Amino acid sequence: MSSIHDVVSMKPFSRKQIDGILDLSETFEDVARAKKPSNLLAGHVVATLFYEPSTRTRLSFESAMVRLGGQVLSVADALKTSSAWKGESLEDSILTVQNYADVIVLRHSERGSAERAAAVADAPVLSGGDDANEHPTQALLDLLTIRREQGKIDGNTVTLVGDHKHSRVTNSFIYGLANYKVNVILVNPPELAIAPDVLKHVQDKGLKVEETSDLAAALKKTDVVYIFRIQKERFKDPQEYERVKGSYVINRAMLEAAGRPITVMHPMPRLDELSTDVDTYPGACYFRQSFNGVLIRMALFALVLGKADVG
Ligand code: NCD
Repeated sequence: MSSIHDVVSMKPFSRKQIDGILDLSETFEDVARAKKPSNLLAGHVVATLFYEPSTRTRLSFESAMVRLGGQVLSVADALKTSSAWKGESLEDSILTVQNYADVIVLRHSERGSAERAAAVADAPVLSGGDDANEHPTQALLDLLTIRREQGKIDGNTVTLVGDHKHSRVTNSFIYGLANYKVNVILVNPPELAIAPDVLKHVQDKGLKVEETSDLAAALKKTDVVYIFRIQKERFKDPQEYERVKGSYVINRAMLEAAGRPITVMHPMPRLDELSTDVDTYPGACYFRQSFNGVLIRMALFALVLGKADVG
């Protein structure tokens, strides 16, 4: 039996577990690319419950299950199409859905919802993101992306550019990075700084974090730049969004001016913060990054359904 049952936060993961998940995920490459069939998860069923919009997260979870021989029950737009619309509690929905599926993937608009679901469920719960809090499976695929693009995670300077205040991706990713010997540079408008408790948590673990507003200077010492969309839907005050909108952009000329090869990541969807002229830049890897999501989600299904172990 795997010691990993739920994935609702990156905080509890050890480096050994993360490395084990990344190693396991890469064994699924041929299955994910449909070069090799698999029946590893035949007879298993996942329910994907999405209360917030998604393209990559839901479909890569579903692709992972289907390509491993399992089946999918999918609720997109759950706020409107499930009994949540009638006022059913998340807990009651989860206790019901686990009668129909062996594993539950949940994306929800309330902070802490994934933990609440895991607390009541016997079935494993994998979070696909809870409000602006965490998105742990994204962090795992992001760590895999750095390892595949750079050959290793240790030793890199990783610059995170964007809306760190509202980004669940930043939070989970920096918790994951805190297990490695990396330098982190945070670039953001002052209003969109990372939550102090998140920063303190990773600094207490020994992660070196520099905060700056000088993106050009940061790029000159960066191996990996990870840029995020401003999370318009999470602003309480629409005027605050108007003030920061468009306040940072990465384009090809800026990358070339840095004078070094840089891996460029984005969780997607992108808006105007990442110019499409970066798409042909050699280090641009955001579409490979979204493929890596299938590998990671295959590994997580295999682990929580007892078909593999990483200690
Ligand atoms: C992210 C999310 O939903 O948090 N997208 C994703 O899962 N790939 C980032 C975003 O929406 O900006």
